[in-house]
Amino acid sequence: MQNEETYLQSLLNKRKIVRKYIETNKKFPALKTIPEYAIKIPTAGFSRGIEIIHISEKKNILQIAKYSNEDTYVEKGYDKWISNSLSLFLIVINEEAYHKRYMQIDKNTSTNSKEWEIPYWYVDAGAAMMNCMLLIEETGLKSGFLGSHNIAKDKIKKHLSIPSEYLLLGFITAGLEKDIDVEKKSSKKRKLTHNEYFSK
Ligand SMILES: Cc1cc2nc3c(=O)[nH]c(=O)nc-3n(C[C@H](O)[C@H](O)[C@H](O)COP(=O)(O)O)c2cc1C
Repeated sequence: MQNEETYLQSLLNKRKIVRKYIETNKKFPALKTIPEYAIKIPTAGFSRGIEIIHISEKKNILQIAKYSNEDTYVEKGYDKWISNSLSLFLIVINEEAYHKRYMQIDKNTSTNSKEWEIPYWYVDAGAAMMNCMLLIEETGLKSGFLGSHNIAKDKIKKHLSIPSEYLLLGFITAGLEKDIDVEKKSSKKRKLTHNEYFSK
């Protein structure tokens, strides 16, 4: 007998990045509750330097679409991805919270947080991002992710009153999928999991 997929396993299996959403007036009240659960992440040293902003007012979504250069993508033939989102979840990083925490007496034998090979604030931000995606999946909507590398970060910070020293990871988008594509991705994947020993 095959083991049944658990609920979490099914959410993980169904999750995929969707960048095409239907315009809709349907309400999804569960979206509002996402940040309070998504923020339940482990943070290095309990630094608590990750925060989540939920954006659901149409005027703000449209402004962010503008600052994300959506127009240039639409001109190239892509869909209005950000503007058609029902909610955006912006993950912001307070790096200073980590340095403050790791300067405390109980951390004085730890590697200086400014010298970490892998800065844990990015790790923790990724955990919050994944929580948002799974919680969106649970509402029946689909998630996408727009990283902050190509957007007008300073204008967005100003518009949303975010302190200038905070870093923006990017927006997790939530919307109703336009062209439902149930096709599984190619199974010709590079092996990414290993049993006991690293193997090719
Ligand atoms: C850190 C990170 C940054 C990403 N940035 C973008 C982005 O800026 N724009 C975008 O369209 N997709 C972005 N993606 C989505 C990836 O392209 C997507 O996760 C990948 O193609 C795998 O697809 P799947 O998530 O549907 O399995 C990003 C994903 C991650 C994890």
